[in-house]
Amino acid sequence: MSKTATKQKNEKADTEKKVPIFVMGKKYEVPASLTIQKALEYAGYQLIRGCGCRGGICGACGTVYRFPNSYRIEVGLACQTVVEPNMYITQIPFFPANKATYDIEKLEPTGSTIAALYPEIFKCVGCGTCTRSCPMDIDVMEYISKAIRGDIAGAAELSFDCVMCGLCSARCPAEEAQYNIGILARRLYGRHIAPRANHVAKSVENVEKKSFEKGLKTLKGMKQEELENLYNEREIEPDMAEEFWEPDDKMFLIIE
Ligand code: SF4
Ligand code: SF4
Ligand code: FES
Repeated sequence: MSKTATKQKNEKADTEKKVPIFVMGKKYEVPASLTIQKALEYAGYQLIRGCGCRGGICGACGTVYRFPNSYRIEVGLACQTVVEPNMYITQIPFFPANKATYDIEKLEPTGSTIAALYPEIFKCVGCGTCTRSCPMDIDVMEYISKAIRGDIAGAAELSFDCVMCGLCSARCPAEEAQYNIGILARRLYGRHIAPRANHVAKSVENVEKKSFEKGLKTLKGMKQEELENLYNEREIEPDMAEEFWEPDDKMFLIIE
């Protein structure tokens, strides 16, 4: 961002309504519209760890906070949670959790596989704290329960939106690493249960056979202006096109 844009952004933030927040016990007044992550930066913190995508995808910014006179520990992703007055904030540090090592090719897609790699799964007491902690609104306890029952497809599907933030694990009295169990279920499902995607296999075969070489050579031989024209005038698939829609010009396509 340019210096002018940054200055304008800060000026806008300075005219906004402010709310008090506490970062590791120290009070800051920050604009009410900011996420926790932006509020930390506004307060002068430089985020080196615990910050990645800034878009709710990477799960790096798990944060816990509390309010005065409330015993509840609240959790959220710092990049997605907007500040509230009198939040006492701290980001969760990295903490070790069981992460099994395996060769997915050699595993059977069964509950016994999960049990062998993550035996602590049977310590789950069904408290539901993990589900209540999840910023992605995943029914974490239910996917753990499916994994215990050997329902790999169910555990894979239910855990699909997991961003690996670790907030569930941080609260679990049974010391489960739910996110690692979820990713194992998804890997088992993807490698051993889901039907093969024939069209992808065909495309890989075509890449290996160098079927695209001729088209690539033609493109590489074009001048920038020709390439721009080709791009701007390309046929675009219409909305609600037929399932097997194809462009008239198939020069760069391999259609079988
Ligand atoms: S927090 Fe732990 S013990 Fe409680 S339901 Fe979730 S996995 Fe089970
Ligand atoms: S399942 Fe656990 S690690 Fe995954 S997004 Fe939810 S709280 Fe985070
Ligand atoms: S920074 Fe990636 S989820 Fe918040």
